[in-house]
Amino acid sequence: MNYQPFIGKTAIITGAGEGIGFAIAQHLMNEGANVVINDINPDAIDKALAKLNDGHHDNVAYGMPGDAGNVEFIRTMVEFADSIEDSNLEMIVPNAGLTEFGDFFEFNPDSFQKVVDLNLRGTFFLCQIGAAKMRDNGSQGNIVLIGSNVGERAYLNLAAYGMSKAAISMLAKQLTLPLGPLGISINCVSPGATLTERTAAEVEDYAGTWAILNPNGRVGTTDDVAHAVSFLLSPQSRHITGQTLLVDGGWTAYGPSPYTAEKIKNANPSSKNTTKNGARKVSIETGK
Ligand SMILES: NC(=O)c1ccc[n+]([C@@H]2O[C@H](COP(=O)([O-])OP(=O)(O)OC[C@H]3O[C@@H](n4cnc5c(N)ncnc54)[C@H](O)[C@@H]3O)[C@@H](O)[C@H]2O)c1
Repeated sequence: MNYQPFIGKTAIITGAGEGIGFAIAQHLMNEGANVVINDINPDAIDKALAKLNDGHHDNVAYGMPGDAGNVEFIRTMVEFADSIEDSNLEMIVPNAGLTEFGDFFEFNPDSFQKVVDLNLRGTFFLCQIGAAKMRDNGSQGNIVLIGSNVGERAYLNLAAYGMSKAAISMLAKQLTLPLGPLGISINCVSPGATLTERTAAEVEDYAGTWAILNPNGRVGTTDDVAHAVSFLLSPQSRHITGQTLLVDGGWTAYGPSPYTAEKIKNANPSSKNTTKNGARKVSIETGK
């Protein structure tokens, strides 16, 4: 029998149609939770639900299509999660986040606003509305925010995103004060480069490149992140709150960015094959 700490508990996970959020939903279901998965893309939700409700679980995955940055939608989603019978809303993971690349001098207010609306407004108000529901129900839940390695170290063309992710890590500290006395813990998991449908499509040989850049020699997988989230949601971590856990293969501790590696390559043509042609092929499923 698997370890099942989440039986009778409901989790909300935003941006969970694919990528890291989907893996989190899968892990929590395997550990007994009912999950409410949100995504702005209804097709992604349908596909995710088909995989999650595969007949192997007594617990159920529910879909809530909508914009995780919209406060009225967040209220509706929390009310729905709270209405699930024989299950208490005890876990919240505001995972949806926008990675908007752009040159600092060209970055426009619309792009900035999109980052703020989803990464900051969505995260802040899901915490507020979800925690208020837990408080009113007298349930001692757990919240895990999703930050980023780019909230810890500067990264080219991600100034607004990095700023928003640093703020999310700070929010975990701030909310220890209102939530601690209620028995609600809040932490932040900050992934490093993680192989997802999006990142694999964005960059050629994303996995191989990061296998070279990360000190531990591999790219992150969505399972790596989901394991950390699941631990911080579980009763085993109940005395941990206000923390940020980097799941990044050591990159934040010591690792060059692709930009730095490119600069080194250009300055030293004899090492030309180190980032692309010399990169190890890494499987999208296992990251090995
Ligand atoms: N993938 C990485 O390498 C990486 C690294 C560090 C941090 N992160 C963070 O982890 C989280 C998940 O990353 P990912 O790469 O799995 O995400 P992603 O970009 O692949 O998106 C996952 C899902 O979120 C949905 N989504 C987009 N906008 C939404 C909105 N407004 N409301 C609801 N859903 C929305 C998308 O449709 C998609 O199905 C994000 O907060 C991201 O910033 C990811």
